[in-house]
Amino acid sequence: MTLLEIFPSLRSGMPSTRVDTAVWPCETHYDALGRIAIGGIALADIADQYGTPTYVLNETEVRDRCRAYRRHFPEAEIIYAAKALLTKSVAGWITGEGLSIDVCSGGELAIALAAGIDPRRIVLHGSGKPFAELEAAVAAGVGRIVIDSLTEITLLSALVSRTQQVLLRLSPDIDVHGHPAVKTGVADQKFGFPLGSAEADEAIERVLRQPALDLVGFHCHLGSQIHNPDHYGEAVRRLVAEMARVRDEFGAMPTQLDLGGGHAVAYRSGDAEMNLYELADIIEDALDAACARNRFPRPRISLEPGRAIVARAGVTLYRVMTIKHIEGGRTFVIVDGGMNDNPRVALYGARYDAVVANRHPTGPQMTATVAGRYCEAGDILAADVRLPADLRPGEIIAVPCTGAYHHSLASSYNGVGRPPLIGVREGRSRELVRRETAADLLARDLG
Ligand SMILES: Cc1ncc(COP(=O)(O)O)c(C=O)c1O
Repeated sequence: MTLLEIFPSLRSGMPSTRVDTAVWPCETHYDALGRIAIGGIALADIADQYGTPTYVLNETEVRDRCRAYRRHFPEAEIIYAAKALLTKSVAGWITGEGLSIDVCSGGELAIALAAGIDPRRIVLHGSGKPFAELEAAVAAGVGRIVIDSLTEITLLSALVSRTQQVLLRLSPDIDVHGHPAVKTGVADQKFGFPLGSAEADEAIERVLRQPALDLVGFHCHLGSQIHNPDHYGEAVRRLVAEMARVRDEFGAMPTQLDLGGGHAVAYRSGDAEMNLYELADIIEDALDAACARNRFPRPRISLEPGRAIVARAGVTLYRVMTIKHIEGGRTFVIVDGGMNDNPRVALYGARYDAVVANRHPTGPQMTATVAGRYCEAGDILAADVRLPADLRPGEIIAVPCTGAYHHSLASSYNGVGRPPLIGVREGRSRELVRRETAADLLARDLG
């Protein structure tokens, strides 16, 4: 019998020798030197080779997540929400796994097209699509455009010469009780049309009056970090009823129902995440019941996960710059990145884990706050985390679950260029996006 078996309470004081695969890519392990490795490569080696801060992305994890969605929803179309993270390689991996892509700007569209994605598999979103971006999307031949406003119907009508499939975005007034910045399913917010409103009816009428616009269905997006699948069941009930009403009152026959994304991931061990088994069951049951109740044929369901595909595949590496013990206050571990590469803490109050990656965290630990290098007191990456008490400047800190809305939300505040994105897979690493340099910043500054 081991000491730990006799005194299990000792376990709570010990650093973990395992990584939690709810938060880390499934290919993560401690190597023979006690360092954290992903995809067969030690994170410390990546930090040495490419510098810090650096985003690391495990291709296998991204592909596994795509496959999980296809397995759980074999009849649905899975449309990856590119706003979470988009590079040419990522677009290639994801569409290679059979997913479509949703883009919300001309820039994302350009990246998807540059990656060679079939435009028919691209869906265009956006609450204020500029004319030039609509023009580029129509010219490229994107499969569907999700209409968000009456103005857009006018612009699109002027633009399209051949039939363009469109969906209409409706807000079904479902409150998922998330952070106000990501609550998009309630009526009083900027996206789409409130379901059942006079404006929504006017939009339906206007689209149906345009022979070149083909209203194939409806779209809704309830919010982000939703772990209760019942909200999607409710969305199905409300939207199928609406589809039946549109059939009865407008003589149209919408066939597609896009339920948006927003499936929660665990950022820290123990956080609630969306259970795909439950989500699939609830959507199926709600569809069966709603279609029977409204005598409406089953629409094709689309889901638009973003974060749930890429979040856990990403880890950010930082080098410790200095450690400050404030008398009577906190211990700050200041690293060489921060709110530029991870603005989610400042934006949403997001909470993260942070661990030392270049050695096994044995020995006594301290509670510390990992803070960034930028000129804001709110530039915090991870509050109250457990780190080795003997942590030194130069060591590598890894923050897991940073694959979504990090690279895509990054800024160059304080004149610090954005980090590179390093892909890892089967013992090989490769720069997917290079580091932004001072020369890049100067290239835009015309003097
Ligand atoms: C329309 C739409 N679809 C999908 C998503 C993806 O959300 P998530 O990354 O939380 O799955 C978003 C996120 O804002 C969105 O606005």
